[in-house]
Amino acid sequence: MQQTKHYDALAHGDWHYIEKRSLESFSASDWGVMNAQRRQYMAELQADQVLRLLKGSEHDPTFGYMVNNYRHCLQSATMALRDGLEEEDVVVALLHDVGFITCPLMHGDFAAALLGAYVSERNHWMLRHHATFQNLHSPNLPGGNPHERERWRGHPHFDWTAEFVARYDQAASDPDYPCEPLETFVPMVRRIFARAPQDRRSIEKETP
Ligand SMILES: [Fe+2]
Ligand SMILES: [Fe+2]
Repeated sequence: MQQTKHYDALAHGDWHYIEKRSLESFSASDWGVMNAQRRQYMAELQADQVLRLLKGSEHDPTFGYMVNNYRHCLQSATMALRDGLEEEDVVVALLHDVGFITCPLMHGDFAAALLGAYVSERNHWMLRHHATFQNLHSPNLPGGNPHERERWRGHPHFDWTAEFVARYDQAASDPDYPCEPLETFVPMVRRIFARAPQDRRSIEKETP
């Protein structure tokens, strides 16, 4: 079929548009084509889009910290890498605050939703709760409760979350820290998102 000027480019020249303007008119074979192309598309582009999400904040100003959120994320990941942590932990450190500006009050849930299908339950839980654990390190934060994390004392992932925040988060805003460039982490991010996804949506609904 002739492409019009309104069509966006397909990712591959031998792919096909489904030239119907409502989902209700898609046939089963249309969905077959769409889903096959979608699977390949996600495999090729998901990690890159996640990286672009972070990279887009590279030159942002800060609201008071000596480094912006991008450099905080890079420092967190670099510290985890240099401590010899597993690749998954390094990638989680890199992306733990990727939603800090766009989704501030729920940025832990944002990161958990972004990464949850591809990481351990330990890291999924840590991402969801790390901001609460951060309060311990902000004893003079107005309205903050440094001991709020105690409600989860004894949880299997309490210690890891406390360790992550203490070692790789609360002190990862040092303007003199020599961070690795983002490029160091690109292949790691690609490998994590290339894992077979797990469905964690039911866990997302559980409290805590
Ligand atoms: Fe955070
Ligand atoms: Fe952080």
